[in-house]
Amino acid sequence: MEGSKLKVGVLYNLFERLEKGEAKDILAEEAVQEEIGAIEEGICSLGHEFHVMAVRHEIDSVIHWLKEIRPDVVFNLCESVYGDASLEMNIPALLDLLRIPYTGSSALTLGLCQDKGKVKDILTSQGVLTPRYKIFDREVGSLKGNIFPIIVKPLHEDGSLGISNQSVVHNDESLNRQIRYVIEKYRQPALVEEYIDGRELNVGLLETNGKVEPLPISEIDYSEFPEGIPRICGYEAKWVQDSIEYQKSKPVCPAPLEWVMQKRVEHLAIKVFKLFGCRDYARVDMRIDRDGKIYVLEVNPNPDISPPSGMARAIRVRGMTYAEFLGAVIEKAIQRKP
Ligand SMILES: Nc1ncnc2c1ncn2[C@@H]1O[C@H](COP(=O)(O)OP(=O)(O)O)[C@@H](O)[C@H]1O
Ligand SMILES: [Mg+2]
Repeated sequence: MEGSKLKVGVLYNLFERLEKGEAKDILAEEAVQEEIGAIEEGICSLGHEFHVMAVRHEIDSVIHWLKEIRPDVVFNLCESVYGDASLEMNIPALLDLLRIPYTGSSALTLGLCQDKGKVKDILTSQGVLTPRYKIFDREVGSLKGNIFPIIVKPLHEDGSLGISNQSVVHNDESLNRQIRYVIEKYRQPALVEEYIDGRELNVGLLETNGKVEPLPISEIDYSEFPEGIPRICGYEAKWVQDSIEYQKSKPVCPAPLEWVMQKRVEHLAIKVFKLFGCRDYARVDMRIDRDGKIYVLEVNPNPDISPPSGMARAIRVRGMTYAEFLGAVIEKAIQRKP
Protein backbone atom coordinates (compact mmCIF):
# COMPACT_ATOMS: atom_id res chain seq x y z
CA MET A 1 0.00 0.00 0.00
CA GLU A 2 2.93 2.34 0.65
CA GLY A 3 3.11 5.19 -1.79
CA SER A 4 -0.38 4.63 -3.18
CA LYS A 5 -2.99 7.33 -3.04
CA LEU A 6 -5.63 6.66 -0.41
CA LYS A 7 -9.00 8.17 0.29
CA VAL A 8 -8.68 9.24 3.92
CA GLY A 9 -11.83 10.21 5.82
CA VAL A 10 -11.33 12.19 9.01
CA LEU A 11 -13.99 11.96 11.72
CA TYR A 12 -13.97 14.36 14.64
CA ASN A 13 -16.41 15.36 17.36
CA LEU A 14 -18.14 18.72 17.39
CA PHE A 15 -20.91 19.44 19.78
CA GLU A 16 -21.82 23.02 20.58
CA ARG A 17 -24.21 22.39 23.44
CA LEU A 18 -22.84 20.54 26.44
CA GLU A 19 -25.44 18.90 28.60
CA LYS A 20 -23.37 18.52 31.71
CA GLY A 21 -20.24 19.93 33.30
CA GLU A 22 -19.01 23.53 33.25
CA ALA A 23 -19.75 26.02 30.46
CA LYS A 24 -16.01 26.53 29.91
CA ASP A 25 -15.59 22.81 29.12
CA ILE A 26 -16.42 23.80 25.53
CA LEU A 27 -12.81 25.00 25.14
CA ALA A 28 -11.67 21.39 25.11
CA GLU A 29 -14.08 20.64 22.26
CA GLU A 30 -13.01 23.69 20.29
CA ALA A 31 -9.36 22.70 20.37
CA VAL A 32 -10.09 19.90 17.92
CA GLN A 33 -10.94 22.49 15.23
CA GLU A 34 -7.32 23.66 15.07
CA GLU A 35 -6.29 20.09 14.71
CA ILE A 36 -8.27 19.55 11.50
CA GLY A 37 -6.32 22.10 9.47
CA ALA A 38 -3.00 20.53 10.42
CA ILE A 39 -4.28 17.03 9.69
CA GLU A 40 -5.57 18.12 6.29
CA GLU A 41 -2.23 19.65 5.41
CA GLY A 42 -0.37 16.52 6.54
CA ILE A 43 -2.64 14.07 4.75
CA CYS A 44 -2.57 16.06 1.51
CA SER A 45 1.22 16.39 1.65
CA LEU A 46 1.37 12.58 1.75
CA GLY A 47 -0.48 12.60 -1.57
CA HIS A 48 -3.73 11.23 -0.14
CA GLU A 49 -7.26 12.45 -0.72
CA PHE A 50 -8.68 14.25 2.33
CA HIS A 51 -12.35 14.17 3.36
CA VAL A 52 -13.66 15.40 6.68
CA MET A 53 -16.86 14.98 8.65
CA ALA A 54 -17.85 16.30 12.06
CA VAL A 55 -19.90 14.06 14.30
CA ARG A 56 -22.54 16.42 15.68
CA HIS A 57 -25.99 15.73 17.10
CA GLU A 58 -26.95 12.56 15.26
CA ILE A 59 -25.18 9.63 13.63
CA ASP A 60 -27.31 9.07 10.52
CA SER A 61 -25.51 11.72 8.47
CA VAL A 62 -22.15 10.19 9.43
CA ILE A 63 -23.22 6.75 8.24
CA HIS A 64 -24.60 8.28 5.06
CA TRP A 65 -21.34 10.16 4.47
CA LEU A 66 -19.22 7.04 5.03
CA LYS A 67 -21.31 5.10 2.52
CA GLU A 68 -21.06 7.88 -0.02
CA ILE A 69 -17.36 8.67 0.35
CA ARG A 70 -16.26 5.04 0.89
CA PRO A 71 -12.94 5.98 2.49
CA ASP A 72 -10.06 3.47 2.35
CA VAL A 73 -9.34 4.40 5.94
CA VAL A 74 -10.82 6.67 8.60
CA PHE A 75 -8.60 8.81 10.79
CA ASN A 76 -10.54 8.70 14.02
CA LEU A 77 -10.22 11.86 16.12
CA CYS A 78 -13.48 11.45 18.05
CA GLU A 79 -12.82 11.78 21.76
CA SER A 80 -16.52 11.96 22.54
CA VAL A 81 -19.90 11.74 20.80
CA TYR A 82 -22.82 14.11 21.40
CA GLY A 83 -20.59 15.84 23.98
CA ASP A 84 -20.42 12.62 26.00
CA ALA A 85 -16.99 11.01 26.47
CA SER A 86 -18.55 7.68 27.43
CA LEU A 87 -19.85 7.32 23.85
CA GLU A 88 -16.32 7.62 22.38
CA MET A 89 -16.02 3.86 21.86
CA ASN A 90 -19.05 3.74 19.58
CA ILE A 91 -17.27 5.35 16.62
CA PRO A 92 -14.73 2.53 16.21
CA ALA A 93 -17.55 0.06 16.89
CA LEU A 94 -19.53 1.58 14.02
CA LEU A 95 -16.51 1.50 11.71
CA ASP A 96 -15.92 -2.16 12.59
CA LEU A 97 -19.51 -2.96 11.62
CA LEU A 98 -19.11 -1.06 8.35
CA ARG A 99 -15.80 -2.88 7.76
CA ILE A 100 -13.87 0.36 7.32
CA PRO A 101 -10.31 0.35 8.69
CA TYR A 102 -9.58 3.18 11.10
CA THR A 103 -6.65 4.61 12.98
CA GLY A 104 -6.09 4.14 16.68
CA SER A 105 -7.45 1.84 19.32
CA SER A 106 -10.44 -0.50 19.18
CA ALA A 107 -13.82 0.07 20.78
CA LEU A 108 -12.88 -2.38 23.51
CA THR A 109 -9.70 -0.51 24.47
CA LEU A 110 -11.38 2.92 24.34
CA GLY A 111 -14.32 1.67 26.40
CA LEU A 112 -12.12 0.02 28.99
CA CYS A 113 -9.83 3.04 29.45
CA GLN A 114 -12.89 5.24 29.92
CA ASP A 115 -13.34 3.61 33.28
CA LYS A 116 -10.38 4.80 35.27
CA GLY A 117 -11.27 2.49 38.15
CA LYS A 118 -11.19 -0.63 35.95
CA VAL A 119 -7.90 0.57 34.46
CA LYS A 120 -6.44 0.81 37.94
CA ASP A 121 -7.71 -2.67 38.88
CA ILE A 122 -6.02 -4.15 35.82
CA LEU A 123 -2.79 -2.24 36.46
CA THR A 124 -2.77 -3.44 40.06
CA SER A 125 -3.39 -7.05 38.98
CA GLN A 126 -0.24 -6.84 36.85
CA GLY A 127 1.89 -5.35 39.61
CA VAL A 128 1.89 -1.84 38.15
CA LEU A 129 1.68 0.90 40.78
CA THR A 130 -1.26 3.29 40.56
CA PRO A 131 -2.58 5.58 43.32
CA ARG A 132 -4.91 3.80 45.74
CA TYR A 133 -8.54 4.68 45.12
CA LYS A 134 -12.21 4.37 45.95
CA ILE A 135 -15.25 5.21 43.88
CA PHE A 136 -18.24 7.02 45.38
CA ASP A 137 -21.65 7.69 43.95
CA ARG A 138 -22.71 9.58 47.07
CA GLU A 139 -21.09 11.54 49.85
CA VAL A 140 -19.01 9.58 52.32
CA GLY A 141 -19.35 11.52 55.54
CA SER A 142 -16.17 10.81 57.45
CA LEU A 143 -13.72 8.24 56.15
CA LYS A 144 -11.45 6.51 58.61
CA GLY A 145 -7.84 5.93 57.69
CA ASN A 146 -7.75 8.55 54.96
CA ILE A 147 -4.36 9.99 54.33
CA PHE A 148 -4.83 13.51 53.05
CA PRO A 149 -4.22 15.11 50.59
CA ILE A 150 -6.56 13.29 48.30
CA ILE A 151 -7.61 14.14 44.74
CA VAL A 152 -11.24 13.84 43.58
CA LYS A 153 -11.92 13.38 39.85
CA PRO A 154 -14.83 12.39 37.65
CA LEU A 155 -14.61 8.64 36.95
CA HIS A 156 -15.19 8.83 33.20
CA GLU A 157 -13.92 12.18 31.90
CA ASP A 158 -10.80 13.24 30.08
CA GLY A 159 -8.91 16.43 29.31
CA SER A 160 -8.99 17.40 33.01
CA LEU A 161 -12.73 18.10 32.92
CA GLY A 162 -13.96 18.53 36.47
CA ILE A 163 -10.42 18.91 37.84
CA SER A 164 -9.51 22.24 39.49
CA ASN A 165 -7.53 23.53 42.44
CA GLN A 166 -10.46 22.48 44.64
CA SER A 167 -10.01 18.87 43.53
CA VAL A 168 -7.09 18.38 45.91
CA VAL A 169 -8.66 18.12 49.36
CA HIS A 170 -7.24 18.12 52.85
CA ASN A 171 -10.19 17.23 55.09
CA ASP A 172 -13.49 15.33 55.17
CA GLU A 173 -15.54 18.45 54.55
CA SER A 174 -13.83 19.40 51.29
CA LEU A 175 -13.67 15.73 50.28
CA ASN A 176 -17.45 15.52 50.51
CA ARG A 177 -17.88 18.85 48.75
CA GLN A 178 -15.84 17.64 45.77
CA ILE A 179 -17.60 14.29 45.61
CA ARG A 180 -20.92 16.15 45.52
CA TYR A 181 -19.57 18.48 42.84
CA VAL A 182 -18.53 15.62 40.54
CA ILE A 183 -21.80 13.76 40.98
CA GLU A 184 -23.99 16.83 40.46
CA LYS A 185 -22.04 18.62 37.71
CA TYR A 186 -20.69 15.65 35.79
CA ARG A 187 -23.48 13.16 36.55
CA GLN A 188 -21.12 10.33 37.29
CA PRO A 189 -19.35 8.74 40.25
CA ALA A 190 -16.30 10.37 41.80
CA LEU A 191 -12.91 8.73 41.72
CA VAL A 192 -11.20 9.50 45.02
CA GLU A 193 -7.47 8.94 44.83
CA GLU A 194 -4.37 9.06 46.95
CA TYR A 195 -2.53 12.25 45.91
CA ILE A 196 0.97 11.57 44.59
CA ASP A 197 3.26 14.47 45.26
CA GLY A 198 6.09 14.46 42.75
CA ARG A 199 7.18 14.79 39.16
CA GLU A 200 4.61 14.33 36.40
CA LEU A 201 5.46 12.62 33.13
CA ASN A 202 3.56 12.03 29.89
CA VAL A 203 4.85 9.23 27.73
CA GLY A 204 3.67 9.13 24.13
CA LEU A 205 3.97 5.83 22.32
CA LEU A 206 3.99 5.02 18.65
CA GLU A 207 3.75 1.67 16.91
CA THR A 208 6.12 1.43 13.99
CA ASN A 209 7.45 -1.61 12.15
CA GLY A 210 5.66 -3.95 14.52
CA LYS A 211 7.30 -2.40 17.57
CA VAL A 212 5.96 -0.13 20.29
CA GLU A 213 8.31 2.81 20.52
CA PRO A 214 8.27 5.29 23.40
CA LEU A 215 8.54 8.88 22.18
CA PRO A 216 10.73 11.36 24.06
CA ILE A 217 9.26 11.67 27.56
CA SER A 218 7.61 14.95 28.50
CA GLU A 219 7.54 16.42 32.00
CA ILE A 220 5.19 19.08 33.32
CA ASP A 221 7.38 21.52 35.20
CA TYR A 222 5.45 23.02 38.12
CA SER A 223 8.43 24.77 39.71
CA GLU A 224 7.01 28.23 38.96
CA PHE A 225 3.55 27.43 40.29
CA PRO A 226 2.62 29.96 42.99
CA GLU A 227 2.62 28.71 46.59
CA GLY A 228 -0.70 27.34 47.72
CA ILE A 229 -1.89 26.18 44.31
CA PRO A 230 -1.84 22.40 44.00
CA ARG A 231 0.70 21.21 41.45
CA ILE A 232 -1.69 19.48 39.12
CA CYS A 233 -2.62 19.76 35.47
CA GLY A 234 -6.26 20.66 36.01
CA TYR A 235 -8.65 22.20 33.49
CA GLU A 236 -7.14 25.71 33.78
CA ALA A 237 -3.59 24.46 33.29
CA LYS A 238 -4.60 22.41 30.27
CA TRP A 239 -6.94 24.76 28.40
CA VAL A 240 -7.29 28.31 29.78
CA GLN A 241 -4.39 30.20 28.25
CA ASP A 242 -4.67 33.37 30.35
CA SER A 243 -4.78 31.49 33.65
CA ILE A 244 -1.79 31.45 35.99
CA GLU A 245 -1.96 27.64 36.02
CA TYR A 246 -1.59 27.49 32.21
CA GLN A 247 1.24 29.99 32.12
CA LYS A 248 3.20 28.44 34.97
CA SER A 249 2.99 24.77 33.99
CA LYS A 250 5.66 24.24 31.40
CA PRO A 251 5.98 21.08 29.37
CA VAL A 252 9.62 20.04 29.10
CA CYS A 253 10.45 17.53 26.39
CA PRO A 254 12.66 15.59 26.59
CA ALA A 255 12.31 15.40 30.37
CA PRO A 256 15.60 15.61 32.26
CA LEU A 257 15.71 12.07 33.68
CA GLU A 258 18.58 9.87 34.71
CA TRP A 259 19.20 7.09 32.24
CA VAL A 260 18.00 4.32 34.57
CA MET A 261 14.81 6.21 35.42
CA GLN A 262 14.18 6.94 31.75
CA LYS A 263 14.46 3.26 30.92
CA ARG A 264 12.14 2.28 33.79
CA VAL A 265 9.55 4.80 32.64
CA GLU A 266 9.78 3.70 29.00
CA HIS A 267 9.60 0.02 29.90
CA LEU A 268 6.52 0.65 32.05
CA ALA A 269 4.80 2.72 29.34
CA ILE A 270 5.30 -0.04 26.76
CA LYS A 271 3.97 -2.65 29.20
CA VAL A 272 0.85 -0.54 29.84
CA PHE A 273 0.31 0.11 26.10
CA LYS A 274 0.32 -3.63 25.44
CA LEU A 275 -1.68 -4.51 28.55
CA PHE A 276 -4.66 -2.47 27.35
CA GLY A 277 -4.31 -3.53 23.73
CA CYS A 278 -3.62 0.03 22.54
CA ARG A 279 -2.98 0.44 18.83
CA ASP A 280 -0.98 2.86 16.64
CA TYR A 281 -0.42 5.59 19.22
CA ALA A 282 -1.32 6.35 22.83
CA ARG A 283 -0.13 8.28 25.87
CA VAL A 284 0.45 7.11 29.43
CA ASP A 285 0.44 9.66 32.27
CA MET A 286 2.57 8.97 35.33
CA ARG A 287 3.90 10.47 38.52
CA ILE A 288 7.16 9.66 40.32
CA ASP A 289 7.05 10.10 44.09
CA ARG A 290 9.93 11.20 46.29
CA ASP A 291 11.12 7.61 46.71
CA GLY A 292 11.39 7.14 42.95
CA LYS A 293 8.30 4.92 42.75
CA ILE A 294 6.49 5.32 39.43
CA TYR A 295 2.68 5.48 39.52
CA VAL A 296 0.49 5.25 36.43
CA LEU A 297 -2.25 7.90 36.66
CA GLU A 298 -4.11 6.97 33.51
CA VAL A 299 -3.92 5.47 30.04
CA ASN A 300 -5.01 7.57 27.05
CA PRO A 301 -5.61 5.31 24.04
CA ASN A 302 -6.98 8.27 22.04
CA PRO A 303 -4.87 11.24 23.11
CA ASP A 304 -4.99 14.73 21.68
CA ILE A 305 -2.62 14.91 18.69
CA SER A 306 -3.32 18.51 17.63
CA PRO A 307 -0.18 20.56 16.87
CA PRO A 308 -0.02 22.21 20.33
CA SER A 309 -0.49 18.87 22.13
CA GLY A 310 2.16 17.03 24.08
CA MET A 311 1.99 14.13 21.62
CA ALA A 312 2.78 16.39 18.65
CA ARG A 313 5.65 17.96 20.59
CA ALA A 314 7.11 14.55 21.41
CA ILE A 315 6.86 13.59 17.74
CA ARG A 316 8.77 16.74 16.75
CA VAL A 317 11.42 16.09 19.40
CA ARG A 318 11.73 12.52 18.09
CA GLY A 319 12.69 14.12 14.76
CA MET A 320 9.59 13.04 12.91
CA THR A 321 7.44 15.47 10.93
CA TYR A 322 3.72 15.67 11.61
CA ALA A 323 3.02 14.27 8.14
CA GLU A 324 5.37 11.33 8.77
CA PHE A 325 3.52 10.58 11.99
CA LEU A 326 0.13 10.70 10.25
CA GLY A 327 1.52 8.53 7.46
CA ALA A 328 2.83 5.90 9.90
CA VAL A 329 -0.52 5.75 11.71
CA ILE A 330 -2.51 5.49 8.45
CA GLU A 331 -0.17 2.77 7.23
CA LYS A 332 -0.79 0.72 10.40
CA ALA A 333 -4.56 1.12 10.06
CA ILE A 334 -4.57 0.06 6.40
CA GLN A 335 -2.69 -3.12 7.33
CA ARG A 336 -5.68 -4.11 9.47
CA LYS A 337 -8.07 -3.91 6.54
CA PRO A 338 -10.68 -6.61 7.08
N1 LIG B 1 -3.42 10.66 42.10
C1 LIG B 1 -2.95 11.82 41.66
N2 LIG B 1 -1.95 12.44 42.32
C2 LIG B 1 -1.47 13.63 41.92
N3 LIG B 1 -1.96 14.31 40.87
C3 LIG B 1 -2.96 13.74 40.18
C4 LIG B 1 -3.50 12.48 40.52
N4 LIG B 1 -4.48 12.19 39.64
C5 LIG B 1 -4.55 13.21 38.78
N5 LIG B 1 -3.63 14.15 39.09
C6 LIG B 1 -3.43 15.43 38.39
O1 LIG B 1 -4.59 15.75 37.64
C7 LIG B 1 -4.31 15.74 36.23
C8 LIG B 1 -5.47 15.14 35.46
O2 LIG B 1 -5.75 13.84 35.94
P1 LIG B 1 -5.99 12.62 34.98
O3 LIG B 1 -6.34 11.44 35.81
O4 LIG B 1 -4.84 12.46 34.06
O5 LIG B 1 -7.32 13.09 34.20
P2 LIG B 1 -7.60 13.44 32.67
O6 LIG B 1 -8.07 12.16 32.07
O7 LIG B 1 -8.70 14.43 32.74
O8 LIG B 1 -6.33 13.93 32.06
C9 LIG B 1 -3.02 14.96 36.09
O9 LIG B 1 -2.33 15.36 34.94
C10 LIG B 1 -2.30 15.33 37.39
O10 LIG B 1 -1.67 16.59 37.29
MG1 LIG C 1 -4.45 12.87 31.99
